[in-house]
Amino acid sequence: MIAQFFDFKVENKYNIYMSNKQMRDEETQRIIQELEGVVGLPGDVVEFGCYRGETSVLLAEALSNTPDKWLWLYDSFEGLPQKQKEDVSATGTLFRAGALKASKDAVLREFRKRRLPEPAIRKGWFEDLRAEDLPEAICFALLDGDFYSSIASSLQLVAPKIVYGGIIMVHDYKNPALPGSSRAVMDFYRNNRDLFRLTVASGMARLERLSP
Ligand SMILES: C[S@@+](CC[C@H](N)C(=O)[O-])C[C@H]1O[C@@H](n2cnc3c(N)ncnc32)[C@H](O)[C@@H]1O
Repeated sequence: MIAQFFDFKVENKYNIYMSNKQMRDEETQRIIQELEGVVGLPGDVVEFGCYRGETSVLLAEALSNTPDKWLWLYDSFEGLPQKQKEDVSATGTLFRAGALKASKDAVLREFRKRRLPEPAIRKGWFEDLRAEDLPEAICFALLDGDFYSSIASSLQLVAPKIVYGGIIMVHDYKNPALPGSSRAVMDFYRNNRDLFRLTVASGMARLERLSP
């Protein structure tokens, strides 16, 4: 049933995949596949770093058969924060403070254009969010904040809320232009090996919650 649903969605969303400039097709397809594998679990879906909502609308479409699940989006809408030493790389000079600035209205327009239910959107720096700003339980999280502090703080917020069997996908894990992403994942994983299994999926980190 899920496989049939997935095939149908891939065919119908091909134009959307092609218009997504933030991710490779292989990455978005993997993200949707991972999400569809956990929609039967309790908990909502979150994306940290939604930018213009190009991947967010795909997450929402994949949730269209599960109206009890909410999509929660988080972004500064001020672009990237300052780099830290962990983020410095010769190939990542275009990723600097203020780059990738978008607006909440632009994200909402993408949802309305496709007649998708509006997500919960929180504007703010991840570092300033508290546990109450997130849903009580999460079955799937996409973390795409690019920099060390952004991935580290979103992992700290999300991990305690992931249900047993739930998945965290971290974008740019294998992207040499954004080394902070893998450094934050490794620092997190060092202290959480008993709770999560780490694998690599289409260049992203895939963290699966192992125990309640
Ligand atoms: C690469 S873009 C996200 C792309 C989006 N996931 C997609 O697939 O279309 C990174 C986003 O993360 C946001 N961001 C990065 N670090 C952040 C932080 N510490 N707090 C809040 N937002 C942050 C930026 O504003 C930017 O919109």
